[in-house]
Amino acid sequence: MINYVDVIYGLAWGDEGKGKISNLIAKDYDYVCRWNGGPNAGHTVYINGQKYKTHSVPCGIFQNKKSIIGPGCVLHINKFFDELSYLAQSGFDISLVKVHPNAHIITDEHIQRDLDGLKAKLGTTGQGIGPCYSDKMLRCGVQAKKVMDKKWLWDGQLSGNVLCEGAQSVWLDIDHGDYPFVTSSNTMPYASCSLGFSPKKIRNLIGVAKIYDTKSGVDPLFPESLWENETLNTIIELGQEFGSTTGRKRLVNWLNLDKLIDSIKLSGCDNLIINKCDVLEKVNKYKLYYNNKLIEFKTLDEMKEFIKDALIDFNLSITFSGHKEHLNK
Ligand code: IMP
Ligand code: MG
Repeated sequence: MINYVDVIYGLAWGDEGKGKISNLIAKDYDYVCRWNGGPNAGHTVYINGQKYKTHSVPCGIFQNKKSIIGPGCVLHINKFFDELSYLAQSGFDISLVKVHPNAHIITDEHIQRDLDGLKAKLGTTGQGIGPCYSDKMLRCGVQAKKVMDKKWLWDGQLSGNVLCEGAQSVWLDIDHGDYPFVTSSNTMPYASCSLGFSPKKIRNLIGVAKIYDTKSGVDPLFPESLWENETLNTIIELGQEFGSTTGRKRLVNWLNLDKLIDSIKLSGCDNLIINKCDVLEKVNKYKLYYNNKLIEFKTLDEMKEFIKDALIDFNLSITFSGHKEHLNK
């Protein structure tokens, strides 16, 4: 029996620090599950100062929890096993990792199609994600159960307390993002039910945002002129805003509070975590867009109060947090 499900998901364009939060709270759950995406994701966590990265495996692995890759995910077999070797060499128990038999397999041909067509047009991660999901929809894809040894396959059972870990984020959702500048899966928290539980089981929706916005890949909301802004470039360096899958520099912009409000409305967030506040403190500049106007504050506290006031009607619990392993209230 499932007791309850909590869902961690991103409220912006990815790279908000979902992995960090997942790793911090995973110890309180029996399962940690991914429901969407594949090796396009990159979750970075710090444990005792040591940096770890995953692409396909949920962060439950770092806390010795059953780590599930759901039927809505896509998987590249070699990359998956490389990731497992890396995790095993780092001392984690990879027997906890299981893949749903219906997850779809990314082939080298999918990657080639992505590199040939989509990458230049949309700035995809080049991991074959779009072509794999399109073959799934065309009903000509290959499922994990066809090619994987049984020992890696999940029996589909969940019990106790379940944590779902989103990849990509609300504004990359195939249905709700700025199509076609989106990924090919449902990133919204409701899609976590594709793991095989009723929406009634969901207890808390934990939305993760960042105190400034970033985008990897093409998006008209992030014009190229942003590269010329000196402060925003400093944020790239101090916030280490480089893609964990592609190594690309992410375009940085000031927080668009209007978009954050929209994504909270759309997703139904209960707990809001706003990451990387310490990065703005280091550059000592505090700005955000609200009602389409750029507003500047003298201090981080002033900016935080403004955000809290703007979100007052949502009745959220809001946590402002720093970088890496810290979760400062
Ligand atoms: P794809 O998912 O590789 O097809 O890429 C589609 C779009 O989503 C591109 O703009 C990518 O940069 C973006 N994207 C995909 N995965 C991530 C992620 O994990 N973090 C941030 N952006 C992502
Ligand atoms: Mg990432």
